[in-house]
Amino acid sequence: MFTFARANPVAFLALLSLAASSSSLTTALAVMPESSSSPPASASASRATLPSSSSSSSRYLRDVPEGPPDPILGINESYKSCADPRKVNVCVGAYRDARGRPWVLPAVRDAERRLLDDPATNKEYAPIAGDPTFVDLALKFAYGADADVSVIAGMQALSGTGACRVGGHFLSRFVPRPAGRAKVPIYVPDPTWGNHVAIFEECGMDVRRYRYYDAGTNRLNYAGIVEDLTNAPDGSVILLHACAHNPTGCDPTFEQWDAISELIASKGHVAFFDSAYQGFASGDAEADAFALRHFVSRGHNVVLAQSFAKNFGLYGERTGTISVVCSNPEERSAVLSQLKLIARPMYSSPPVHGSNIVRTVLTDKGLTGEYYNNCREMAARIRAMRERLVDVLLEVGSSHDWSHVTEQIGMFAYTGMSSEMCDVLTSEYSIFLTRDGRISLAGLNDDNIEYVARAIHAVTDGKSITS
Ligand code: LMR
Repeated sequence: MFTFARANPVAFLALLSLAASSSSLTTALAVMPESSSSPPASASASRATLPSSSSSSSRYLRDVPEGPPDPILGINESYKSCADPRKVNVCVGAYRDARGRPWVLPAVRDAERRLLDDPATNKEYAPIAGDPTFVDLALKFAYGADADVSVIAGMQALSGTGACRVGGHFLSRFVPRPAGRAKVPIYVPDPTWGNHVAIFEECGMDVRRYRYYDAGTNRLNYAGIVEDLTNAPDGSVILLHACAHNPTGCDPTFEQWDAISELIASKGHVAFFDSAYQGFASGDAEADAFALRHFVSRGHNVVLAQSFAKNFGLYGERTGTISVVCSNPEERSAVLSQLKLIARPMYSSPPVHGSNIVRTVLTDKGLTGEYYNNCREMAARIRAMRERLVDVLLEVGSSHDWSHVTEQIGMFAYTGMSSEMCDVLTSEYSIFLTRDGRISLAGLNDDNIEYVARAIHAVTDGKSITS
């Protein structure tokens, strides 16, 4: 039998699956020749041995409904399968170089070379909380070189999504529920990154929205923020984008951040920062940490979901941290133990390649300097595309006021286009963007910007881009 399994692994697995579906392993083993280089006729057609959907154990599969495609990554898939040579991908927030290609940061490449040459590099499991050196460096990257990490419970996480997910679970378990409510309320900006709502719902939180953007002016709705955070029940969790708000590109001013910090403190709310774009707003990762650091300096016990997907270009490496600023080392120890209890049954321990890269870059002065230059270069190219897009829109004859686009910051232009306009851009021009009118500026370059601007002009001409 084992000779058969070795010589015919596919047929062997098919037989096992047949046996499992008929709940009779002995029957399957009985039909198996003791020693044979070719499988029996019944097993050689492995498709014929797949369980049929009418078998009792799989009947439930017929009732599984088709789920909707993801509003961001689903469009990205459609882009890939589009055969139109004119196609343009301005959908996903992933950096592209001036020729439209994904870019591995040179500092990241250099770090990878060092890791490859280092005999100490291995593929062992990371601890549940990840690589402690990486975590300390990542926390200092976010909170500042002089941050007291002895009171910050920090754990490696699977990029921003994983960090939000673990942070949401933690808050859902430990933040006291307002009287009469079954779930902890979390207020997310309206609009916010498409995945936030699903993440926090999966965490068992009561997801509510606070006004953030005024579609009538295409600007930040500061008065709406203040009013809604004031009316939220005391002790709510408030999700804040640390910088370069996704999708709107509108951040509060320093003065507004200060007032929001005061307001959140006065209501006893918990500030939960999602930092996915540190370095993409101004090009300077230090400057982009302003809001987070300001809140900490004002005494907030913030929660931070930190991603290295964009600013280090480590999209597929799933590298980030989740952290909670505590009041003393004892609190830190207890909080960290709870974060680990959430992570272990979810994914056990984090992947190591991305954190090895970030650790290597941030422990070496030369690589750190190179990294900061790479980050500046990405931000500068995106800024240049933002300005160019508006210039070309005007050149091709648009009479709209696009100044909101030049005022926004970060990876996206939140244009004000309606979902119908976006649909026409995709169906008639093969320009793939999210249906909220968001354009990932990193997808633009000298070769496609005029095409995109002409198409935007065609779908917006004579129509309103405010609502
Ligand atoms: C985006 O907003 O496009 C990115 O954050 C990618 C994603 O996972 O949605």
